[in-house]
Amino acid sequence: MPIFYDSQAQVFHLQSAASSYIIQLVQSAHPAHVYWGPKLAQESFDKHLHSIERASFSPTLSADAPHLSFDTLPQEYPSYGSGDFREPAFAARYVDGSTVSRFVYDSHEIEAGKPKLEGLPATYIEKEDEADTLRLTLRDELTGLKAVLSYTVFHKLDVIARSTRFVNEGAESIALGRALSASVDFDHSEFDFLQLSGAWTRERHIYKRELVPGIHRIDSKRGSSSHTQNPFIALLAKNAGEDHGEVYGFSLVYSGGFLGQAEVDPFGTTRVQIGIQPFDFEWKLEAGESFQTPEAVLVRSSEGLGGMSRIYHKLYRTRLSRGQFRDAARPILVNNWEATYFNFNADKIKEIAAAGQELGIELFVLDDGWFGKRDSDNSSLGDWVEDKRKLPEGLAKLANEITGTGMQFGLWFEPEMVSPNSDLHRAHPDWCLHVPNRSRTEARQQLILDLSREDVRDYIVDSVSKVLESAPITYVKWDMNRNMTEIGSELLPAERQRETAHRYMLGLYDVLERIVSNFPHILFESCSGGGGRFDPGMLYYMPQTWTSDDSDAVERLKIQYGTSIVYPASSMGAHVSAVPNHQVGRVTPLEMRGHVAMSGNFGYELDLARFGEEEKQAVKEQVGLYKELRELIQFGDFYRIKSPFEGNDTAWAYVSEDRSQAFAAYFRVLGEPYAPLRRLKLKGLDPNKRYTVEGNIGGGETGAVYGGDELMHLGLSLPSMWGDFQSVLYVIKEA
Ligand code: DGJ
Repeated sequence: MPIFYDSQAQVFHLQSAASSYIIQLVQSAHPAHVYWGPKLAQESFDKHLHSIERASFSPTLSADAPHLSFDTLPQEYPSYGSGDFREPAFAARYVDGSTVSRFVYDSHEIEAGKPKLEGLPATYIEKEDEADTLRLTLRDELTGLKAVLSYTVFHKLDVIARSTRFVNEGAESIALGRALSASVDFDHSEFDFLQLSGAWTRERHIYKRELVPGIHRIDSKRGSSSHTQNPFIALLAKNAGEDHGEVYGFSLVYSGGFLGQAEVDPFGTTRVQIGIQPFDFEWKLEAGESFQTPEAVLVRSSEGLGGMSRIYHKLYRTRLSRGQFRDAARPILVNNWEATYFNFNADKIKEIAAAGQELGIELFVLDDGWFGKRDSDNSSLGDWVEDKRKLPEGLAKLANEITGTGMQFGLWFEPEMVSPNSDLHRAHPDWCLHVPNRSRTEARQQLILDLSREDVRDYIVDSVSKVLESAPITYVKWDMNRNMTEIGSELLPAERQRETAHRYMLGLYDVLERIVSNFPHILFESCSGGGGRFDPGMLYYMPQTWTSDDSDAVERLKIQYGTSIVYPASSMGAHVSAVPNHQVGRVTPLEMRGHVAMSGNFGYELDLARFGEEEKQAVKEQVGLYKELRELIQFGDFYRIKSPFEGNDTAWAYVSEDRSQAFAAYFRVLGEPYAPLRRLKLKGLDPNKRYTVEGNIGGGETGAVYGGDELMHLGLSLPSMWGDFQSVLYVIKEA
């Protein structure tokens, strides 16, 4: 079992594929963090925590241990109030008004496998021998508050999944004001801090900054993980790059407001924390009640950011995503949103679907506007009944006609929302999040349903299920288009109002669990104005996400490259849209748009019926090529080769698990005068295999055979290119 406990030294040694994580109980009471780094062979280590006596500004725990201070002790789950002046992992307010806690070791258990997190999304195992779990129980003697720290170590991946469960074993109620999922103390601060940040249509750009004393924080107070910050941070050793060096990732399996931060203290140590946003959060624990935090997934790699990403990709693709689509090739789709917006009728829809079908596209998706009286975004959310003005013969007839041609049929919903101008809102004006007597702020002219309420959840499940049962629907796009304001629930008592945002998330997860398990044959794609909720929490229910509302090929290079830091290609929806692009007005060639979109779950989002013969032929070829390569793209190992954040060109590649096949894409954004000669050095191939290389490279090297070592170290000479927005694809197969 790769979790060892040395009862003499009171040391826990957690071993994953190539890493060790070591905890030591100091004075049999305080779980201190000793090490997280490359795997150590020996089972126990008891000589590594060093503490020295400091001046009086570092308070000591007792007179007979003057070197022991919470101010300097690296801790696994730090409390507040007894001399640790860094950020605590949790905060509690007790019935006497005090806020001081002191957790000490109570007991521990080590067991094979990984227990489920009740009501929350989490990574999972399929066989008990894939992972082991340590549960370390800490207790505040005075109040009876208990924290059970859970660490699951995956044997074949460098992953430790952490979460915390609080239990009130006291007699009085306790208010939790902060309950983070994980806290890790590193004994130095020689790191850069990496985050994925942006905005609507500009999600998950990569930002890196040096750690200096103080707190480096990213967060979301939006009630969703958000476009603005992704629930992920990484620490990179100073010499770490894409392919080498120590990298530590922290990813939160949660879709609501969150916090991720690194704090550098006066002694140059770094405390990293991630969890639910503590701002405006409080959770009341009555005697006997418990609270489970979401899961934080900690990944370590000595192979740089690329190594870390491939671990997340594998874990999230195979042990977070679920259902029959997890390992299935995803269909190529055409979506009518940018082709028609709200302005369509059944004939127009059939025309787009037919054009798609003729070109080999497999799934038609009917987007917003098919229900209620929704001619713009100012009405009808909540009224999930077909609009007979647009679809006079009904939704089922339309879906049957389209599926009759051999295509699949998909449908858009935004189930968490209600338009003030809707039958639902007129019947239940208090079903939305709100604060009594305060005006309700609208965004996109809609309000958010209060998913903490069971009646609201039942309504959503029933109304969506009715539609799904009424027609041959095999794909659903689950959208969510605003952030939370006036966060309050009519049914919660005053002292539980600050639980609303998290209760909403628990409610959402309940709704999703019920719907996805009732409709296992439906492929669900999540969306939040594009990538506003592209997070591991949603991936547990829906194996793919609409990456961004920005489908411009150039913008997508950065968005998809940034997204790939954590999320696998199989999770990224990527579509070819019309030019001039609807988000930025840029005109890029169909070829580059196709090549960029082929790097994820491929599709089109334009009026294919308006394409001329030449464009149709090009689409046919793109569709054909994607069908040939999609398993490699969706399920292969992903290698970033050139970063769009560092220059004019971008490159990436996918390599099959057995390294017999690869696919590489190179993009150059702007034309360059007198351009340098460039080579594309591949990664991840077998140096001892021979490969045939084919590509859209205009003759020359097509069909040539190279050694794997040659392709990786010498590389392919890129052809000379003319004009802006050029792209080159290489298909590489074992000769
Ligand atoms: C936002 C989504 O991201 C778009 O793709 C589209 O579905 C619109 N909502 C529809 O309102």
